[in-house]
Amino acid sequence: MIVNNNIKEIQSLMKDIKKQGKTIGIVPTMGALHAGHMSLVKKAKENCDFIFVSVFVNPTQFGEGEDFDKYPRTLQADLDKCEEEGVDLVFTPTNEIMYGEGYSTYIEALNISQILEGAVRPIHFRGVCTVCTKLFNISMADYGFFGQKDYQQVAVLKKMVRELNAPIELVMCPIIRDTDNLALSSRNVYLSPEERARALFINQGLFAAKEAFDKGEKDINVLRKILTDTILKGKPDHVDYIDIFDRNTLEKAKDVNNAVILIAAKYGSTRLIDNMEL
Ligand code: PAF
Repeated sequence: MIVNNNIKEIQSLMKDIKKQGKTIGIVPTMGALHAGHMSLVKKAKENCDFIFVSVFVNPTQFGEGEDFDKYPRTLQADLDKCEEEGVDLVFTPTNEIMYGEGYSTYIEALNISQILEGAVRPIHFRGVCTVCTKLFNISMADYGFFGQKDYQQVAVLKKMVRELNAPIELVMCPIIRDTDNLALSSRNVYLSPEERARALFINQGLFAAKEAFDKGEKDINVLRKILTDTILKGKPDHVDYIDIFDRNTLEKAKDVNNAVILIAAKYGSTRLIDNMEL
């Protein structure tokens, strides 16, 4: 497994890989790799010849007062996991390598990135779009693998790729849940046992609404009530949104066609997101 931070060297290597007719898959991560990330690597391996993983806690997607400083950093363990899973190259740049002095170029997707997560974290998707564009350019990947847990992130990035005519196809991979059904996230380590117990109502709400839908309930307001009543039993400390949205626009859904449930709530100081397509 190659571990390299030199962008010029990597790009020259990636050109050679392409010349050999191999397909390249990128799994961009911020490290603290867990089974969710490794499921993306597995999916990439099923579909691509060369697997490129990036590990970079991207400062431009964190706002003032967010958890950039305390975000878990576990590089050696991440490298071991990548090696074990048969990753070909890991890119672990520093802030200086990605954003040298005087850095000034940003990619901004309007509308879809200003609602939901974007409403609460105004610069978040600008940072995500910028870093992912740079990672796509560095890796020259044909396919990018992203987790469904960050549903809006996938929607924003797919739209960006489409609108910028970027030569990469993005693949959304299913959410991986822990044994207690909490969606895996690097931020779950912040939760106390008591907060985690309350957060489990998120998953119960999602499954209760989905089950009602699958059994024939198509009234969106009834589904909204099942969802919200269940999650509120866990007494979240703050709710940003618990609702049903249109999968394409991420606007509040008028009916259940092509709909997705999206949730963002805080337990203690930990902000969790989760979702489920109906
Ligand atoms: O989902 C993440 O971990 C990050 O937003 C990403 C895509 C690696 C960009 O920094």
